[in-house]
Amino acid sequence: MEIALPEGFPTRVFVEEEPLPGLLPAGPWTLVGDAAVRDAWRAAGLPEPPGALWVPVSEASKRLSTLIPWLEAWAAIPLDRQGTVVAVGGGVLTDMAGLGAALYMRGIPWQAWPTTLLAQVDAGLGGKTACDLEAGKNLAGAFHPPSTFVACRSFLGTLPPRQLESGAWELFKMALVEGDLAWAEELLAPGLPSPESLLRALRAKALVVHRDPLEAGERRLLNLGHTLGHALESASGYRLLHGEAVGLGTLAACALAESEGLGPFPPGFLARTASRLRHLLPAVPPWEACLPLLRVDKKSASRGPAGGSAIHCILPRPGARAEQKVLPPEAWRGAHARMTTFLNDPEMPT
Ligand SMILES: NC(=O)c1ccc[n+]([C@@H]2O[C@H](COP(=O)([O-])OP(=O)(O)OC[C@H]3O[C@@H](n4cnc5c(N)ncnc54)[C@H](O)[C@@H]3O)[C@@H](O)[C@H]2O)c1
Ligand SMILES: [Zn+2]
Repeated sequence: MEIALPEGFPTRVFVEEEPLPGLLPAGPWTLVGDAAVRDAWRAAGLPEPPGALWVPVSEASKRLSTLIPWLEAWAAIPLDRQGTVVAVGGGVLTDMAGLGAALYMRGIPWQAWPTTLLAQVDAGLGGKTACDLEAGKNLAGAFHPPSTFVACRSFLGTLPPRQLESGAWELFKMALVEGDLAWAEELLAPGLPSPESLLRALRAKALVVHRDPLEAGERRLLNLGHTLGHALESASGYRLLHGEAVGLGTLAACALAESEGLGPFPPGFLARTASRLRHLLPAVPPWEACLPLLRVDKKSASRGPAGGSAIHCILPRPGARAEQKVLPPEAWRGAHARMTTFLNDPEMPT
């Protein structure tokens, strides 16, 4: 099913149960895919074009040096300016293939066929493409939206449960960006999210991105849960998956919102959220390990008068859209403490 989006939106967005070959490019194309989904692609009877590359994927391989042989391979096909790159995989693969498409011949079209829940609800749509640098994640990138985005739920069948859970927190985040707690509660249930949830989250993201493609304002709302989340993810030495850290960061953002007077959230809501995150507690880094990372967050808004940084914080509100507030990194101290208390409390429902 194609999602109706405003005229001028650069990407056609589809959510399907099974992959539809008819959505692949009509003209010349090639494919770069995560080796973990090659069998599923073939089993679905999908075609493999000349020069198809199936590559091992890990965050450690998300480097410009990995990309160069892909570009050389495309040139050897040869893929010309009319060609399209089809990216099949999780967020690492779609981010890299999208950047490759942005660089190749100064930019050719690409399609995203995301195969993790995280990439289906977040990474594959919105135009951000990137590789990592030594200095940090996603520091070498470009805005280059895919021409077509196809989220096929059948690909999620082989996804490890931990990856599925992790991706679900990006959906949960979107429910809180919108302030719809009934939707957020629905997403706390285990299992594959409904197609309606996927459609709704993708449409919501697409509309935000359409209004603010370069993240000058409203798009920052999508960073809900990511401020402390990125610090937790990095300070854990990446023991926490991105989505897991976003789940924890979202819980902390709710706690911060309450302390900033934006709550309260309904009784039990934060406890129920915490109960879905409790198993992560052993990997949660202490506040002291997070603070230095918050201070150097690349999304820091400005330098404060005393040389300290001030961060755009996204604060959820029950029943209303999340709001942005610029706060010093130290503002998260209490939220981290409250998050940890919630996670520790064995009396809370599991
Ligand atoms: N561009 C954006 O706007 C944006 C947004 C959020 C995250 N990201 C990026 O996304 C990346 C994380 O993406 P991710 O969580 O999808 O991780 P990932 O791409 O590393 O995939 C997770 C694991 O699942 C495997 N896999 C993928 N699909 C599978 C399937 N269907 N069945 C079995 N295994 C499968 C992969 O090989 C990998 O081992 C990060 O690098 C992050 O920076 C980008
Ligand atoms: Zn994210």
